[in-house]
Amino acid sequence: MGKDSALTMFLLIIPFFILFNPTAAEPLYIDCNNDASNYTLNSPFEKNLKLLLQALPSNTSLTGFYDISIGETPNKIYGQALCRGDVNAAVCESCIVNASQEILKNCKSKDAIIWRDLCQVRYSNQMFFSMQVYTGKYPDWDTQEKNISSPVQFNKILEYLLTNLSTKAAFNPSSRMFATGEVVISAKQTIYGLVQCTRDISGGDCNNCLNSALGDLYACCYGRQGGIIFSRNCDMRFEIYPFYNASSNLLPNPISQGDKRKIWMYVLFACIPTMILAIIIGYCVFYLSRKKGKEKDEERAHLALLLELTTSRGVTMTQEGELMSYEELPFMDFTTMIAATDNFSDSNKLGQGGFGTVYKGILPDGKEIAVKRLSRKSWQGLEEFKNEIILIAKLQHRNLVRLLGCGIEGDEKFLIYEFMPNRSLDMFIFNSERRAQLDWNARYNIICGIARGLLYLHEDSRLKIIHRDLKPSNVLLDHEMVAKISDFGMARIFSENQNTANTKRVIGTYGYIAPEYAMAGQFSVKSDVFSFGVILLEVISGRKSSGFYLTEHAQTLLAYAWRLWNEGKELEFVDPLLLETTPIEEVVRCINIGLLCVQEDPSDRPTMSSVVVLLEGEPTAIALPQPKQPAFSVGRIVPTDKSSTTDPSLNQITLSVLQPR
Ligand SMILES: *[C@@H]1O[C@H](CO)[C@@H](O)[C@H](O)[C@H]1NC(C)=O
Ligand SMILES: *[C@@H]1O[C@H](CO)[C@@H](O)[C@H](O)[C@H]1NC(C)=O
Ligand SMILES: *[C@@H]1O[C@H](CO)[C@@H](O)[C@H](O)[C@H]1NC(C)=O
Ligand SMILES: *[C@@H]1O[C@H](CO)[C@@H](O)[C@H](O)[C@H]1NC(C)=O
Ligand SMILES: *[C@@H]1O[C@H](CO)[C@@H](O)[C@H](O)[C@H]1NC(C)=O
Ligand SMILES: *[C@@H]1O[C@H](CO)[C@@H](O)[C@H](O)[C@H]1NC(C)=O
Repeated sequence: MGKDSALTMFLLIIPFFILFNPTAAEPLYIDCNNDASNYTLNSPFEKNLKLLLQALPSNTSLTGFYDISIGETPNKIYGQALCRGDVNAAVCESCIVNASQEILKNCKSKDAIIWRDLCQVRYSNQMFFSMQVYTGKYPDWDTQEKNISSPVQFNKILEYLLTNLSTKAAFNPSSRMFATGEVVISAKQTIYGLVQCTRDISGGDCNNCLNSALGDLYACCYGRQGGIIFSRNCDMRFEIYPFYNASSNLLPNPISQGDKRKIWMYVLFACIPTMILAIIIGYCVFYLSRKKGKEKDEERAHLALLLELTTSRGVTMTQEGELMSYEELPFMDFTTMIAATDNFSDSNKLGQGGFGTVYKGILPDGKEIAVKRLSRKSWQGLEEFKNEIILIAKLQHRNLVRLLGCGIEGDEKFLIYEFMPNRSLDMFIFNSERRAQLDWNARYNIICGIARGLLYLHEDSRLKIIHRDLKPSNVLLDHEMVAKISDFGMARIFSENQNTANTKRVIGTYGYIAPEYAMAGQFSVKSDVFSFGVILLEVISGRKSSGFYLTEHAQTLLAYAWRLWNEGKELEFVDPLLLETTPIEEVVRCINIGLLCVQEDPSDRPTMSSVVVLLEGEPTAIALPQPKQPAFSVGRIVPTDKSSTTDPSLNQITLSVLQPR
């Protein structure tokens, strides 16, 4: 089984990697509008479409842009082609020929658009000339590492360059809505930018389109060495190498010497103590680890983080949902934390969280807090720290724990939360004495609280957030036993249209992570739904889900629930402490919902909004579907010790995911 499934995984993953191999990424993007109706084979529409696509290449090559319509309603088609402003007629023509063939081959809808590196082609049964609609997209592959060393400065220059070019393309008639330009950043680095609009829209519309594209570019590609956004009516791209064929248009570097000094002064005054400490520590680390390049990188990342934390700006995200910046949050200094926690004494220790230890503390004004002190001797966890600050500071919901502040001082990093007197859910449900305190109502409220918190993360907040490490120890309980989701160190933000992501570094907790995430590193809102289902079943049964991916024969919680469900003995699954006082239909309904959440195929699992409706809705109103079999055992995974935590008690494990190199 192990070998076979490894082979299957291997075969399954290969096509994925070919699909996303950047070197084979032409065309960049095809959008066969799925909302439009499809034309039928050999119909007049198809005939007209072929005529239209044949007329495009040579006609477009004359000026680089062409609008055309062919046929009579209802089979009338509108077509448009645009070549990048720097290509010659021959290159333009062959690009359009290829794009036309590809769009015909790939799309059967009456409305579609294709982008290639050097041209784009669009057709529709609806008239669209002169109408600007922003539909920004970026190619689904990632050619550029996020390794710009001073992203704040880089971005400032980039923004200046692209804004200047946008104005030129939009409002300078001689530009023909195309502009390129360069800014020299340093002797070694120059940024090259390109913007273009389709020539059927007005200058104002072109400028608006490019402004939207700049926002998206910032979101996808901040900190990267290159990026591209294309929309129906405009395209925008930057690289740190020349990628176009136009005469040079050198713009001055907007960060003049005077500005540089001003920024320095600001940074110095804003955080002299922090900086001095950091620099001293930086030097020590540098000397101690001169031979270890990796640690030097970590040190650089640490200094970059410090700088980033001293400037405030909103959240942005990369394509994979990694966070780039954060909103201002109260800083607290380390001496206050030492005083509040009695020098991080063991008696104040609340527990181990991801990447650090949590202590109870009392501020001078008497307010109780929980302080998470991140693992000290290693820079590991830096990303997670940043992630948590940026993310959680943005979120406010009754069922999410609140971050009150943070601090960074030398190699000390800490996060300050509201204090939760009832600690975490695992301390209740896996302890027979405390479990007895939780009657059905309390458990039901906790389940609903987690569901609502998760729904907020997935759908209701401004961002779409995947938690990725939901488990009972990450569900905290306040004095009224209200559930609050915590620990966002592993969370990822998705863009509006993004549904799944892949990661090579699978981190999570056995027993709670979904099979597709454990095996293929694929996560989505549905992998959180899976974790939620496991927790729900644990709360009802009072039993702990074991790491069932690793055990081939062991009786796991899910297998157990599934067997009893099929035998119609679901009441045997319910915690005996509950049975006397619990309405039977309600608890059976909950088990049913839990089993729906842990189904093997993510697409079978309900979304959190359905879960909330099912949980809280009138039971008679909605009939529940029968669950399909959950995933019990999905091959063998080799745990590695390259985990991002040094403390084994944190119960976090990195799984090595099979993939071809
Ligand atoms: C059009 O055809 C595609 C497959 O080529 C299909 O996925 C899509 O659902 C169809 N659209 C409509 C509206 O029938
Ligand atoms: C350009 O388009 C017109 C239709 O608008 C078509 O008649 C003509 O053949 C096209 N030119 C070429 C060279 O294909
Ligand atoms: C760039 O310009 C040169 C000379 O004008 C031309 O030979 C070459 O084909 C052009 N490249 C592209 C991609 O258009
Ligand atoms: C278009 O060009 C790409 C590579 O540039 C090529 O792989 C593809 O086969 C071409 N498509 C057609 C229909 O010629
Ligand atoms: C950044 O990553 C690119 C690859 O995407 C690499 O070519 C380049 O050398 C890296 N630069 C630095 C400063 O690490
Ligand atoms: C763009 O930069 C050029 C060169 O510095 C300058 O002359 C021009 O005014 C700028 N345009 C805008 C809109 O800022």
